[in-house]
Amino acid sequence: MDQVAQIIAETAKVAVKETADAPPPQFTGAVEWPVEASLGKGLEGAIACESQIGYVDGTKGWLIYGGLNVFDLAEKSTYEESSYLTLNGKLPTRAELTEFEKKLKDYGAVPDEVIETLKRLPKETHPMAALRTGVSVLGCLDPNADEPTVENEMEISIKLVAQLATIAGAVARIRKGEDVVPPDLELGHSANYLYMSTGEKPDELLARIMDVALILHIDHGMNASTFTTMVVNSSLSDMYSSVVAGIGSLKGPLHGGANERVLYDLNEIGTPDNTEPWYRAAREQKRLIMGFGHRVYKAYDPRARILKPLAALMAEKDPEMRKLYDIAIKLDDLVSTELGEAKGVFPNVDFYSGIVYTGLGFETAMFTPIFAVSRIAGWCARALEYLADNRIFRPRAAYVGPMSADYVPIDQR
Ligand SMILES: CC(C)(COP(=O)(O)OP(=O)(O)OC[C@H]1O[C@@H](n2cnc3c(N)ncnc32)[C@H](O)[C@@H]1OP(=O)(O)O)[C@@H](O)C(=O)NCCC(=O)NCCS
Repeated sequence: MDQVAQIIAETAKVAVKETADAPPPQFTGAVEWPVEASLGKGLEGAIACESQIGYVDGTKGWLIYGGLNVFDLAEKSTYEESSYLTLNGKLPTRAELTEFEKKLKDYGAVPDEVIETLKRLPKETHPMAALRTGVSVLGCLDPNADEPTVENEMEISIKLVAQLATIAGAVARIRKGEDVVPPDLELGHSANYLYMSTGEKPDELLARIMDVALILHIDHGMNASTFTTMVVNSSLSDMYSSVVAGIGSLKGPLHGGANERVLYDLNEIGTPDNTEPWYRAAREQKRLIMGFGHRVYKAYDPRARILKPLAALMAEKDPEMRKLYDIAIKLDDLVSTELGEAKGVFPNVDFYSGIVYTGLGFETAMFTPIFAVSRIAGWCARALEYLADNRIFRPRAAYVGPMSADYVPIDQR
């Protein structure tokens, strides 16, 4: 067992103890769903479909992909294996995994037209807008894009899992005026992504931490970007268009992006001693503390549980990282003690991920693309699952406008 696996195994033990019980092996999320759906703002509480891909229990702090607890996957699996699980609904055999890994490598390089387009974008382009554009160009270049069968879209999905990492790496390099780094066939998916982003081949520990971070973000229920991807795909558009839309949705600050704000806040706090005065001032001004609270989790987010000790490993790297981590720990203590039990506000996935990404060598603007590079597997898996028994999404709005207004000629209005 490697150092990271050991840390996660210990963390899982604490999580199981604190959440009283882990899901039983025969557990199926579906039987616990409410049968009656209600109309809520932002579709809150609405059930859009049945799914076997993943389950979140926000009260207990469970996150499950295809029946497997995320603690187990982070400890024992790889991004390749966990994304195969998400796309195919089962863990791969050794032969299936080898074939999947080979496909990811074979598909890894992107056409020159994509890189050329990224280079022509204005310098100040938002990295998520660049990512979205890169996928759009990929779609234009794929002669098989417009065949909406599960088989064809599965192949495109594997391509997208491979190529989103390459595009995100290229975006990271181009925005800093550095040479684009092509994928290295010797490296695994996560190590390759890190290499293409930073230009440096990561050591085993950093590659493993990158891998865990990607595993943790693969799927998270019917979130906005996943639903967006599914809605576009349900019109039998094409998987590239669907993923372009998913990236657009994730770009919004209410979805991806809170971890950037966390890092900003930690830097603003500046020193561990200033944490409590900063926190008190934020509470007094009724400001939200970034990286805390969640629409679904009212318990400690299991992803934050795993990322916290990985952030501690990053703290060993240098004094700057140590300072950020020490401030984060103090802030976590203050918020969890005062708002945890009282309001169900605990650290969410974004609180410690920013420290981990900084330690891995990413600039803050590239945090949300990391999310996309992982979530691509979940987006595609859920779009494919829905495609197998497709019905175009077509909800209704409750009309509350007038019914019989008079048409007033324009010069009389
Ligand atoms: C994620 C978020 C939108 C969830 O909001 P929500 O579901 O409306 O939150 P809740 O209804 O559970 O909030 C319950 C109470 O806790 C408070 N609260 C929630 N998150 C808080 C935070 N980050 N800091 C301080 N107080 C918070 C709410 O103001 C509310 O207080 P009240 O009872 O006095 O009205 C919200 O927690 C938030 O904006 N967090 C910060 C941004 C962030 O980290 N986003 C990433 C999410 S992965």
